[in-house]
Amino acid sequence: MVPDPAQGGKDGVPEEGIPPGYTERTLEHLLTPRNLGMIPEPDGHALFTGPCGDTVEVFLQVADEQIEAASFLFHGCQHTLICGDAACELVKGKPVKEVFRISQQGIIDYLGGLPREQEHCANLAADAVKAALLDYLEHRKDPWKKTYRR
Ligand code: FES
Repeated sequence: MVPDPAQGGKDGVPEEGIPPGYTERTLEHLLTPRNLGMIPEPDGHALFTGPCGDTVEVFLQVADEQIEAASFLFHGCQHTLICGDAACELVKGKPVKEVFRISQQGIIDYLGGLPREQEHCANLAADAVKAALLDYLEHRKDPWKKTYRR
């Protein structure tokens, strides 16, 4: 069951509590995502498609080798939204070299768990962030090449 903000309760969490398969944090990212949207002229950008066909598109803004802002768009299930938002949250403010450590398990741990059948959504989000970081590294020395990105 998908939580319905119209049902009331704190931040859309139903009065009767957290539905099975969710955690307080997964609900928070589902109902009030903080990083949904795009960054115009990002320093790093990638659109990644998982084996299930869902997509996550990540935008990174980098300053002084640190992730200043991270955002995403998605097409897929609600756990793609949850994991995309969580992945962006995890990398914001981090040094570039630390961002490569983002992992499926790191996102799952941060969220407090995911249903087994949705664990691959965390992998998709982690892969999309790493791909956006690679894009940043590729264009760092020749920023003009960003104009010709695919
Ligand atoms: Fe495939 Fe969510 S169901 S990424």
